[in-house]
Amino acid sequence: MADDVQLRSQETPLRQLRRRLAPRLVDYARRGTMALADGVMKEDPSFFIDPELFARERQKFFRETPLIACLSNQLPEPGSFVTFDATSVPMIVMRGKDGQVRAFLNVCPHRGARVIRNDSGKTSRFSCRFHGWTFDTTGKVIGVPEEAQFCGEIDAQKHLTACPAEERHGLVFVQATPNSTMDLDAHLAGFGPEIDVLELHKAERVIGEDLEIRANWKYGIDTFFETYHLNSLHRETFKGLFSPVCAFETFGRHHRYTFAPMALDEWVRTPESEWNLDLLPLQYFIFPNTVIAVGSVSQTGVTMTIHNIFPHSVGEFTSRMAVWAVGGVRSPEHRADIESNYEKIRSAVLNEDYSVTSEAWPGLSSLPPGTKLPVGPNEIGLQNFHRNVHELMGV
Ligand code: FES
Ligand SMILES: [Fe+2]
Repeated sequence: MADDVQLRSQETPLRQLRRRLAPRLVDYARRGTMALADGVMKEDPSFFIDPELFARERQKFFRETPLIACLSNQLPEPGSFVTFDATSVPMIVMRGKDGQVRAFLNVCPHRGARVIRNDSGKTSRFSCRFHGWTFDTTGKVIGVPEEAQFCGEIDAQKHLTACPAEERHGLVFVQATPNSTMDLDAHLAGFGPEIDVLELHKAERVIGEDLEIRANWKYGIDTFFETYHLNSLHRETFKGLFSPVCAFETFGRHHRYTFAPMALDEWVRTPESEWNLDLLPLQYFIFPNTVIAVGSVSQTGVTMTIHNIFPHSVGEFTSRMAVWAVGGVRSPEHRADIESNYEKIRSAVLNEDYSVTSEAWPGLSSLPPGTKLPVGPNEIGLQNFHRNVHELMGV
C-alpha cells in the first residue's frame, strides 16, 4: 500500500488528473447516464450567419479578449519571435533580452511597412526594409539612417506600437488592441491550475498547419464539444475508440470535457488497478477560440492537438492545428507515432468535421424565419459555449 501511494505521488499531474476523472466516468456508465444539460437549448440560425453579430464578436472576442498567440516554448531564448497575423492585426511577439515577452504591431512607425516578414526566428535587432530603421527587442528604434536629414519631431513615434502580452501556464497571451489593458486573471477565472496539468512548458511541437474553412467560426468550434456525432460522422475514422459517456466541468467561460474510451465498458466490471488510464481523452477549451485535445487518438495518451480558430468574416475562418508531444518527443518511434496520428486527426477534422461545417453554411440562411435548431442536453459543451456567447453579445 505504501509503495502504491509513493508510485502515485510520482505520477505526472496529467496521469493524476486522469486517475481522478476515470471513476466519475465509470460511475456515469454504471448509472446509465453522463454529463447532461438541464434541457434542450433552441438556437436561432442567425447565431451562425448574422454579419452584424459577427462584427461585434470580432471586436469583443478577437480584439478585446486575451488570445493565445503561441506556447512559451516557441519563444525559447532572448530575441526569439513569432509573427502573429491570425486576428488580421499584424503583430510581432518577441522575448526581450530581459526574458520578458512583449507584443507589438508589425507596423513600422515611419510609414507603416511590415517590419518582420519571417514567421519565426531569433534576432537581437531587426530593420525595416523600406528605409532601414532598426529596432531592439523591446521595439525601440535604435537606428535611423541619415537621421540628421530626417526633419521634424519624431521621438515619440520612434517605437513599435505595443499590445498587451503576458506569459502564463506555458502559454503566451496577447490582446490585439494597441495600448489596451488585458486582465488575464479575470479572463482565466481559475482555469490556470487546470492548464498547468498539461505541463505545456515541456511540450514539443511536431507537426501542424493552417486550414482555411468556409463556414462560421462558432460552427467549427461546436464540432469539438459533443460526442453525439462520433458514431455517425466518424464511424470509419474513430470506430470503436470512444464511448459517448462524458464528464464536463466549467471554469469561468472555459471548460474541460472528458470523454471515455470504449474500454469504459470493461472498466465498469474490473477493478481500478486494471484500467489503462492513458486511454482517457481530455479536451480543454480556452474561451473564445482554443481547443487543446489530449490523447484522443493516441494509444500512448501523450499527444496533444491544439486547435486555434480565427475568423476572417462571418463565413470564413482559419483553423490553426498542430500536434504536440506532451513532455517532449521521447524517441524516433514516438515522433513517427505522432506523425501518423496527425494524419488521422487531419483527415477526420478536414474531411468529416469541417466538411459538414462547410456544407451546412449555405443551408442555414435558407431556413424560414422562426426556425430554431435544437441543442440537446447531451451537447452540454455546445450549450455552455453558446450561452457564454449569448451573454457577452446580449443575444
Ligand atoms: S517604413 Fe519603415 S523605415 Fe520607413
Ligand atoms: Fe468530430
